[in-house]
Amino acid sequence: MNQRIRWGVISTARIGAKAVIPAIQKSNNGIVAAVGSRDLEKGRTFANHCNIPKVYGSYEDLIADPEIDAIYNPLPNGLHGEWSIKAAEGGKHVLCEKPLASDAAEAEKMMRAFNSRGLLLAEAFMYRFHPQIQAAKTLIDEGSIGKIHLIKASFGFPIKSEDDVRLSSALAGGGLMDVGCYCVNISRYMTGEEPLEARAFAEFGADSGVDERLAGMLVFPGGAFAQIDCSFRTYYQQFCEIRGSHGRIVLEYPFRADLVKEIVVHLWVNHEGKDDYRQIAVENPNPYTLMAEDFADAILSNRPPRFSPDDSIAQMRAIDMLYAAARE
Ligand SMILES: NC(=O)c1ccc[n+]([C@@H]2O[C@H](COP(=O)([O-])OP(=O)(O)OC[C@H]3O[C@@H](n4cnc5c(N)ncnc54)[C@H](OP(=O)(O)O)[C@@H]3O)[C@@H](O)[C@H]2O)c1
Repeated sequence: MNQRIRWGVISTARIGAKAVIPAIQKSNNGIVAAVGSRDLEKGRTFANHCNIPKVYGSYEDLIADPEIDAIYNPLPNGLHGEWSIKAAEGGKHVLCEKPLASDAAEAEKMMRAFNSRGLLLAEAFMYRFHPQIQAAKTLIDEGSIGKIHLIKASFGFPIKSEDDVRLSSALAGGGLMDVGCYCVNISRYMTGEEPLEARAFAEFGADSGVDERLAGMLVFPGGAFAQIDCSFRTYYQQFCEIRGSHGRIVLEYPFRADLVKEIVVHLWVNHEGKDDYRQIAVENPNPYTLMAEDFADAILSNRPPRFSPDDSIAQMRAIDMLYAAARE
């Protein structure tokens, strides 16, 4: 195998062009070798725009290319499982967009398809690779804010088009699947636990049928509560606060740090009765590049990716619990 992983991209998805393809092209161990689209002409235009040398007019042909080592799958959510499994059947490792699957059962099926072939699968939650997340996690693990009591996490934006795949229930759209999944993920990551219970309220669109706004709560075994909210119909918001017994951490741009220039972690602690506030400046590298480099390095070094599909299955279980609660 080459020392640079040769990536193939399934579809002309916007997130590929905007973030992930340029990030792989800047990575130290990968190249974007080909793209496959259902429409060859659309694929050609996309390949020109993104500077990709090879174009296929079907996903099957891309997967069959022996000169591709790994597939990046940014299809609509409801197609993540089907096409990741087809890629595994074609012998390819897959970095799949979030959420990994439509539900936990499908995520388990995906993991089996990859494990049985000795192939790697990872969910493209790039935010976890950002230094601010690592800084916050280290502060928590060192006990800086004490025992975690509450996590508040929000992510939402006003959707621009009623034709967006995010509003398609057939393609597993919905606010929780699209942006709320980050809030669930950061709550699980910061507590290091899986939720025992969930409560949720949602507004399901009369036309779309998907949750266009959702607010939920997760209860963790160590006693932490997570309040999460997401929306397609509300003013733009991304935010996370982790409140402990004697301190709190605020992340102003926890999920899309790439959209701003400077990132600081806000830390308040009460030390021996005295309150202290600090801003911790962290570097702001491209988290998409860090994620792509980790996945490519995992293939090259024959090691698991930093975040395993087991984590994605537990993540999908938490999402399933929130949907079940919202539909009650
Ligand atoms: N990590 C992040 O920062 C981030 C950000 C945004 C989105 N995402 C994730 O990335 C994925 C794609 O999101 P996006 O907004 O980039 O998608 P998008 O622009 O709507 O693109 C989806 C692509 O899927 C292909 N496709 C195949 N079957 C389709 C169908 N039935 N309907 C519509 N498209 C179909 C199309 O490509 P062809 O016509 O070329 O085949 C289309 O261009 C989602 O899973 C989303 O959650 C992640």
